[in-house]
Amino acid sequence: MADKSVRLNIKRQNSSESQPYWEEFELQWRPGMNVIIALMDIAFNPVNLQGKQIAPIVYDSNCLEEACGSCAMLINGQAAMACSSLIDKLDQPIYLEPLSRFPVVRDLSVDRSVLFEDLKRVYGWVPIDGTYALGPGPRIDPTVQELAYPLSRCMSCCLCMEVCPQFNESTDFVGAATINQVRLFNMHPTGAHLRHQRLDAMMGEGGIHECSYAGNCVQICPKNIPLTTSISIVNGQVIRQAISDLLQKPELTSANQKPGHR
Ligand code: SF4
Ligand code: SF4
Ligand code: FES
Repeated sequence: MADKSVRLNIKRQNSSESQPYWEEFELQWRPGMNVIIALMDIAFNPVNLQGKQIAPIVYDSNCLEEACGSCAMLINGQAAMACSSLIDKLDQPIYLEPLSRFPVVRDLSVDRSVLFEDLKRVYGWVPIDGTYALGPGPRIDPTVQELAYPLSRCMSCCLCMEVCPQFNESTDFVGAATINQVRLFNMHPTGAHLRHQRLDAMMGEGGIHECSYAGNCVQICPKNIPLTTSISIVNGQVIRQAISDLLQKPELTSANQKPGHR
């Protein structure tokens, strides 16, 4: 098995504006090799299939154990995490491309800051004043903890956004990861202080009404987060808040009606 090789075709791009091109590589196979190991081997010896010395490939990775979310890319056309994609399970040559819905920084590295901007839009945090010691936080019921834990496993990989038909410039849709965080923070006893603002944001531009319930997000999520359940629950919260806001609006009375109105 020692002479087995791995063939890769990698889509490269020098900057967000430059033209992409493909470059081929042949590497020595090793047992248990995954896509990140292949990219590390190229970084160690940046030579392409033609034997030409090349600029090392730019890609993102950190934890190497599917926890940080940074190594998301297209592998043989499918959105996946490079550190958990085993070479032996992939057809060769293996095609690696950057995620398609995010601006390319260089090669396989993309700018996913839209997720963080969307989390800011929906107040995706627990509001605490960090200027003094707050002591222990509020106690959370174990049943709530059990529900919240799976939601908290989001690693911001953006795979759910990559496969979402509604995540595009024409909708400005925030996507499933952000909606899931709305559900999570609304469940937290302190986070719930911003519940009203979060749900208002969910009713605004790019909010939950843009979801078409295609369900691609829940199928791809590497952390098995129940995304479509989160979407349904947040949708219910939004509807209840919209009705309650409507009922609390001051009624039009004859005193504030414009002349001529019936
Ligand atoms: S919800 Fe899942 S797929 Fe989406 S960013 Fe979080 S971990 Fe990734
Ligand atoms: S259910 Fe479909 S449209 Fe809604 S966030 Fe998931 S993939 Fe996107
Ligand atoms: S390197 Fe952290 S998820 Fe792949």
